[in-house]
This record gives sequence, C-alpha cells and structure tokens, in this order.
Amino acid sequence: MDKSGKKRKKWVEILVVAGSICLAVLAGIGVANDDKILKDVGKDEQKENLISVGFSQVGAESGWRTGNSVSIKDAFSAKNGYALIFKDAQQQQEQQIKSIRSFIQQGVNYIILAPVVETGWDTVLKEAKDAHIPVIIADRKVKVKDESLYTTWVGADFYQEGIKACNWLNKYAKKNGKKRLNIVQIQGTQGATAQLGRTKALEDSAKEYGWTILDQKNGEFTQAKGQEVMEMYLAQYDDIDVVYCDNDNEALGAITAIKNADKKLGPEGISVVSFDASEEGLQAVKNGEIAVDVECNPDFGSEIVKIIKRLKYGRSVDKEYYITDKVFAKTKEIPSIEAGKLKWDVVQVTEDIIKKRRY
Ligand code: AHR
Repeated sequence: MDKSGKKRKKWVEILVVAGSICLAVLAGIGVANDDKILKDVGKDEQKENLISVGFSQVGAESGWRTGNSVSIKDAFSAKNGYALIFKDAQQQQEQQIKSIRSFIQQGVNYIILAPVVETGWDTVLKEAKDAHIPVIIADRKVKVKDESLYTTWVGADFYQEGIKACNWLNKYAKKNGKKRLNIVQIQGTQGATAQLGRTKALEDSAKEYGWTILDQKNGEFTQAKGQEVMEMYLAQYDDIDVVYCDNDNEALGAITAIKNADKKLGPEGISVVSFDASEEGLQAVKNGEIAVDVECNPDFGSEIVKIIKRLKYGRSVDKEYYITDKVFAKTKEIPSIEAGKLKWDVVQVTEDIIKKRRY
C-alpha cells in the first residue's frame, strides 16, 4: 500500500471507531429513556396497587399525639404498600367529620378515626358504612347506638391505667406515713375516653382509700393549660398533697407552676401523678419531679396494619384490641402494683430507657 492508501485506511478506521461510539451513546440514551419510561409505568401501577387509607387524627396537643402520628405514618408508608391521607383535626370534632366525608368521596379503602370525644359519630359513621368502607377506631373510643358502624377499635385501657396509678399512690402514701391525701386533678379534653377512664379510676379509688378530691378542672391535655390550672389551684388551696394529671404535658406544666410558687415536689410537698410516659415525662420521673408515670403506648400503627391485612384477606377481626402499658417510677421502693387480680412490676427509669423512647 502506498503512503496515501495507508492514510485513507487510518481515516476509515477512525471514522468506524467514532461511528461506533456515537451509536453506543445513542443506544445508551435510548436504554436510559426506556428505563425511565418503564420505571414511571411501574410507579403508576404501584400507585394503583397501593391500599388507600384516610386517617383523621385528633391534633398535635401532646407528645403522645405526635408519637402516635409518627407511628401511623411509618406503618402506612408507600414502601409498605399504602397511600395514606393524613388529616389533623386540631382537636375539633367538626373537622374530623369533614375529613371522614372527604375520605368517603375519594373512595378510600379504609378509614382510621382517632376520635377527639366519644359521642356524636352516628351519622358520619353510617355514611361510611353505606359506602362499604371499613372504619377502624384508634386510641379513644366512640359511643354509637349501632356498634356495626365501625369494624374494630385499638387502644389502651384508660380506666385500668388510672387504677394502676392510684394503687401505686396508695402504697406510696402509706410508705410516707400519710393517712389522708388531698388531691387536685388536671383533666384531659372533656368527653375523651382517656379523660373519662382516668377520672373514674381516681374517683373510685378516692372512695376506696378515703382520699379527698379538692378540685377537678380541664387542662385540655396541653402543657400551657396544665400550668394555668395548677396556678389557679395553688392560689386557691394551701393543703394539696397530690396533683393527678391526665397526661405528661399537663404534668410538666403543673411542675413549672409548683416550682414558680416555690413549693416542694415529692412527699414533703406536692407529688405529681401522670400518664403517657413520654421521653420528657420519664426524664421528669428520673429527676424526681413526677412520682409515678403510667404508660400509654402510642406506638400501635403496626397493629392497625395487621388488622387491615386480615380484613383485606377476608379474615375476621375482634371488636377490641388492647395495647399493654407499663408503670414507671424513680425507684423500686414500691416493687409492684395490682389492679383487680392483675399484677405489674414497677419499672425503674434508667438513662437507657429514656434514650430508647420513640416519643
Ligand atoms: O387519648 C390518649 C391521650 O391523648 C394521651 O394520654 C394524651 O397525651 C393525648 O393527648
């Protein structure tokens, strides 16, 4: 081959290599686009296959409530196969009724209702039933004439929680040589199962143990209201032995009021009884500010997932599912408590327990 022939061959080789690179790049773009299109189609199909769930939450009034919302959102994620519509009702029943009606209009597969109060649900639950949408009641209960209006309920035994707290308090009073107790109560939202159950337990126990309930006012389950109510009590009564708070947020507010009034916390001053056992609540137990904290576990999103799976496959479900709760104190000086025939060990709060708390 002469010199010019060699040059031509080189150019041809260069052009062939360049052409192949171009084809490979174009093919690559094609593959990338195909992949994207396929992925998008996959997403749509996935969306269609997701189980849609409308959740009407009470609000965000407490640490407990925030923990409960996180539990539901985690359990009903798209990754787990759900399309969750989450509605915060800001503690208003009318908002909850509106949300349920919009869930019905959207034709969701299931409705979860965490009701702010027990009564006033008959009409809207009948609408859900007529639309063949199963309703799962979470946390607080509903009182309806026809129980077939909802499928099942999941939550805590609030009366039993109150009895546990009072049984502990009775043993604590005896240990500290207190023959009589003057108690003020900071109640939760009026008409909510948690308020009704914990109040009845206190009233029954006061009769049984001979305690005096000086006053009962609404603290709406919030810290600000808890502090405000305690300030009123401190201005009115100078012989308070115990403040019985319907949740940790109220207890934290009450503690601030007691400290601001330069009163002592504990058996020589005012002892604080509380419910929830949130991270902040348990920290206050460890600091000796809350005497006893009865757990109300908000982490039951995965329990509701199990119920929905059973319903999806046509299996039967119970009418009620109870979540179990522990009892926490600073020490084990009272090792166990009883409610009826049942007995629980008291858990001593440690740094490790506080660190592991999810809410
Ligand atoms: O219904 C459960 C109660 O509601 C919790 O004890 C309280 O913290 C919440 O707001």
